[in-house]
Amino acid sequence: MSDPSSPAVSMEALVALCKRRGFVFQSSEIYGGINGFFDFGPLGAELKKNIRDCWWNDMVRRRDDIVGIESSIIMHPKVWEASGHVAGFTDPLVDCKVSKQRYRADQLFFAEVVVDGRTIGYVSALEGERTADALQGAAEDMKRKKAVQGKLEAVRPRDMTEARPEEIALIPSPATGEPGSLTPPRSFNMMFQTNVGALTDASSVAYLRPETAQGMFADFKSVVDTGRVKLPFGIAQIGKSFRNEITPRNFIFRSREFEQMEMEYFIHEDADWAKCHREWINWCKDWLLSIGLPASHLSEYEHPREKLAFYSRGTTDIMFRYPFGVQELWGIAARGDYDLKQHEKHSGVPQAIFDEATKRKFTPHVIEPAVGVDRIFLALLCAGYAEEDVTDEKGNTEKRTVLRLSPRIAPVKVAVLPLLKNKPELVARADAIYRRLKRRYAAFYDESGAIGRRYRRQDEIGTPWCVTIDFETIEKDGTFTLRERDSMKQTRIGEAELFALLEEKVY
Ligand code: GAP
Repeated sequence: MSDPSSPAVSMEALVALCKRRGFVFQSSEIYGGINGFFDFGPLGAELKKNIRDCWWNDMVRRRDDIVGIESSIIMHPKVWEASGHVAGFTDPLVDCKVSKQRYRADQLFFAEVVVDGRTIGYVSALEGERTADALQGAAEDMKRKKAVQGKLEAVRPRDMTEARPEEIALIPSPATGEPGSLTPPRSFNMMFQTNVGALTDASSVAYLRPETAQGMFADFKSVVDTGRVKLPFGIAQIGKSFRNEITPRNFIFRSREFEQMEMEYFIHEDADWAKCHREWINWCKDWLLSIGLPASHLSEYEHPREKLAFYSRGTTDIMFRYPFGVQELWGIAARGDYDLKQHEKHSGVPQAIFDEATKRKFTPHVIEPAVGVDRIFLALLCAGYAEEDVTDEKGNTEKRTVLRLSPRIAPVKVAVLPLLKNKPELVARADAIYRRLKRRYAAFYDESGAIGRRYRRQDEIGTPWCVTIDFETIEKDGTFTLRERDSMKQTRIGEAELFALLEEKVY
């Protein structure tokens, strides 16, 4: 991973790399794209699959207390009534009547411009790394333009959910710079609606799931009844979720179709939930380190008690330092018995289980670690991307772009390069090694261009190792050059050693 003290990668450079090398494309690009939707190209699909596989292996297969499921994306609409999503899965929305732009009220900031205790107007700015600075700058501009004498007070930013009714008409729209066009915030439900069957009336309304979690709650009884689990145990799932985000942004960070990896860990009602919650926060952090995210980019944010939902006992987010600021990567919530009780109430099907020790029934409580695959994907690229000057053996310096991805998640694990493509014996040997590697690992064969250029192409997509087949390989002991991406060191090893290295590092 790149040095944490080095300057943050720019999103422009990263988006350009993703497009250039086939990690991520704008969805439906040939039609001009569709906001908030993305496609993953050949390397992106591999990287995503590796993230999913690592999570599934570590979360489900390598543990005895967690099972996996795959529930449907469209569920009975009552699921979403029970979960509270129909009534409450809303974001506060503000419209600009002139520009037709829409803003999330909690991401649109404003401030009074006060000079010598007198309000001379309002300024606004969209949430960003330097919102307060932007508002202060706008306030200074306003004072200058209005030629008001006196001392400008430091701005006190508030978001639009905090605006008093009489202030709304005075706050300028970020789109036009003029006041009078913003509407008061109103609730906007983020679930995508559809209709199931031939009728398109109220009776056929259904939703694309906004989270995978409800699949685990709705299937809780079925999993318990099929008898594979005993408390404490977890049910995990990976799958697509859909949210009609008002302002999808920051590339794949907040999109309208994304993928979640969620796990519901059911515990006894009398269990020490705080201890279990902490254990899961630690597990999630360790897992992020195991796939190569640097500890220096991670932090924790504990939600203040007063902002928690009434049923929630505590939520801690693992935050990641993205180029656009420190943002939520993984939420770990202690949700009590709320979800199961809600489903019991709405479905009429008891969700309590029998406790052998006390000979009575109770509803388990739950700890829920919920993370987005796309956010991990982006975090890995942000932390791994570096541009550096390198000097070759002849003393020439050039720039290389390198993605320092962990071997666990790198889309290509090893590239096989015959030194020369017009020497059939080199090519045949390289091809044989490549075919053998490919049975177990994502390998890439490249024979075109100077060897240095071929190394650079692999550096840029994060391939941890290149092996170069040369004359020594065929004329001497069969060893080849192993070139390591980060150190660029070259050593000679044989096939057995290469497989042992891969076996150890790719798991
Ligand atoms: N079941 C709980 C739940 O869904 P959440 O905090 O709304 O909680 C969990 O979502 C995770 O899903 C987030 O931490 C984030 O990683 C990811 N996520 C949520 N909304 C997203 C979006 N619009 N685009 C990409 N990832 C998103």
